[in-house]
Amino acid sequence: MNKKPLILGIESSCDETAASLITENEERTPIILSNVVSSQVDIHKEFGGVVPELAARSHLEKIDWIVKKAINDSKRKIEEIDAIASTAGPGLVVCLSVGLSFGKAFAASLNKPFIAVNHLEGHALSPKLNSNLNYPYLLLLISGGHSQFLNVKGLGQYKRLGTTIDDALGETFDKTAKLLGIEFPGGPQIEILAKKGNPNKYELPKPIFNKGGCNLSFAGLKTAILKIAKKIKNDQERFDLAASFQKTIEEILYKKTKIAFNEFEEQNKPEKKIFVVAGGVAANKNIRSMLKDLCIEKNYQSIFPPVELCGDNAAMIAMVGLEKFKLKQFNDLNHPAKPRWPLDDTAAFLKGAGVRL
Ligand SMILES: Nc1ncnc2c1ncn2[C@@H]1O[C@H](COP(=O)(O)OP(=O)(O)OP(=O)(O)O)[C@@H](O)[C@H]1O
Ligand SMILES: [Mg+2]
Repeated sequence: MNKKPLILGIESSCDETAASLITENEERTPIILSNVVSSQVDIHKEFGGVVPELAARSHLEKIDWIVKKAINDSKRKIEEIDAIASTAGPGLVVCLSVGLSFGKAFAASLNKPFIAVNHLEGHALSPKLNSNLNYPYLLLLISGGHSQFLNVKGLGQYKRLGTTIDDALGETFDKTAKLLGIEFPGGPQIEILAKKGNPNKYELPKPIFNKGGCNLSFAGLKTAILKIAKKIKNDQERFDLAASFQKTIEEILYKKTKIAFNEFEEQNKPEKKIFVVAGGVAANKNIRSMLKDLCIEKNYQSIFPPVELCGDNAAMIAMVGLEKFKLKQFNDLNHPAKPRWPLDDTAAFLKGAGVRL
């Protein structure tokens, strides 16, 4: 029996310190041997958002024991590790540097290859950890910092079809939660509150709904919520606003995903139509079920990572590491931390005032 690759993944791009060991079985299906994630929510809560300096310090304090725990949990020995994959961007440089430096030093000391991973590629490949997923596929990446439709043609081959021109969807959920008086990070709480409200109570704007292809915009929605939230008098109205927000997001994603389907089909003429949704917001149950229904309607296979792998984790970083290891795509130990690292670096920068769609 050939030895199957054993990959250590390390993640520290924002406010989660994480390490994971993965391998694969005889059928080449990935297997997660350990997956340790330590969130810094309690540290940043009182500030209402991530404080880079505090986040970096916390990564530094925890990284040793998180990696140690991941190795112990995997029941494998350090010497068995074949490669170390660390997130190198995008993210906060002070945070990235912790996991990146640790991974490089670990690789050097074990004399094993080092792999620098794009965090967004981690999200993009996260469904491979629980399903048999082949290229090409259409990806909707909805996370705290990104909202994009991408034609994923192969490992490292991304063609952006659409992107947000202002706020990311996760950020919009978090900001809306804050306006509704929910503690940071409130995004996941919205769908819980929404269940108790009337989704038709408030008419909210859907920016660039009828233009801009499958590009997205959420800033105007947030401004509208700010105005309504100021007038809210009781809990029922809060629930109604949460429900109206959740419904509006679903309507925007439904329409824009249909446009993305058309663009994806024009570019690929795929035999099998596959739609992957990844990133923190992919954990939202109503968004999941709405997109699943749309896939049935349009004859797509829908694939989602398990809910626990939607947010930041190191198993998805190790997953990219596993694919790159098999192709011998290794990196030098002087690989920099990259605060900005788009998956499709040929796509135009579409943010800020003056964007023309
Ligand atoms: N059930 C949910 N409904 C809506 N949003 C959610 C839910 N669960 C998590 N989120 C949002 O997902 C985001 C976190 O996702 P993720 O960890 O992928 O983002 P990030 O790593 O900060 O950003 P990026 O991956 O773009 O660098 C947060 O904004 C959070 O509010
Ligand atoms: Mg992320």
